[in-house]
Amino acid sequence: MKQFVADVLENSVVAKDYREVFVRWPDEVRVPFPGQFLSLRVNRSTVPFLRRPFAVASFDKPLRVASIIYHVRGPGTEILSRVQPGEKLDLLGPRGFYFRTGVQNRPFLVGGGTGTGPIVYAANSLAERGYKPLLVLGHRNSASFPQLRLNPEVRLQKCTDDGSQGFQGTVVDYLSTLSTEAIRDGFVWACGPQAMLKALHNWAHPRGLPCFVSLEQIIACGVGACMGCTVETVDERKFVRVCTEGPVFDSEAIKWT
Ligand SMILES: Cc1cc2nc3c(=O)[nH]c(=O)nc-3n(C[C@H](O)[C@H](O)[C@H](O)COP(=O)(O)OP(=O)(O)OC[C@H]3O[C@@H](n4cnc5c(N)ncnc54)[C@H](O)[C@@H]3O)c2cc1C
Ligand code: FES
Repeated sequence: MKQFVADVLENSVVAKDYREVFVRWPDEVRVPFPGQFLSLRVNRSTVPFLRRPFAVASFDKPLRVASIIYHVRGPGTEILSRVQPGEKLDLLGPRGFYFRTGVQNRPFLVGGGTGTGPIVYAANSLAERGYKPLLVLGHRNSASFPQLRLNPEVRLQKCTDDGSQGFQGTVVDYLSTLSTEAIRDGFVWACGPQAMLKALHNWAHPRGLPCFVSLEQIIACGVGACMGCTVETVDERKFVRVCTEGPVFDSEAIKWT
């Protein structure tokens, strides 16, 4: 993990309230793994004081360009949305435990909302390694679906609450339509709202599919000191910190409440 300054190349709207910012990645900083995140200082002044965490949404190895897809939802992301190409961002990373492949070979990658970026990066990375991932993305409606740059080997299934694009229903409603044969030898990687991750765990677990989730808790100190980002595990009285022990966890380790 390094603290570094990166040149902004582009910062454009990709959906309603969503933007994607592209930065030049310095040669001395190692390539981020899917699921890893960057802590971004959005302002040179003290407001907002804390760095904001964002997962990597793409990494172009030959050009050494990385991106973040972000939801403009508060002061930090509002400031970020106004950053222009040619300006610089202060970043810390790449950070955190990332998605790792096991012995299963049929990837189901599931994302929703602010979890779209990391799961798209994970899908593209698996496709580059010869997998044929099914990427299942859920958003409220077609307007909130970000424009995506996908490897041709990634199969995309969109799901919307109102049916304005793709399957009408949640990502788990869609996965529940798949046959036992279609999910045989599968594994799940996911990032999105807590309710979605819980439902996904409850779908994957009884079917025997390994399921790894990237959790998005609100991060304060970001270095493991304040315990503000903890989640409870199934081990009695054991809590884990998303900022230092995550953000990716085996869904079976989490106590879903
Ligand atoms: C490991 C990790 C990776 C993340 N990756 C991304 C990403 O790729 N793209 C993206 O858009 N966001 C991502 N987030 C969430 C992102 O950090 C917050 O959206 C951001 O910090 C909001 O900052 P703000 O100053 O704009 O808003 P704030 O004023 O901090 O928050 C605005 C509103 O959003 C809520 N909020 C803030 N953070 C979170 C959160 N983590 N989960 C749920 N609600 C939250 C607050 O309660 C508040 O209501 C990630 C979070 C974590 C922990
Ligand atoms: S944010 Fe302080 S311990 Fe994780």
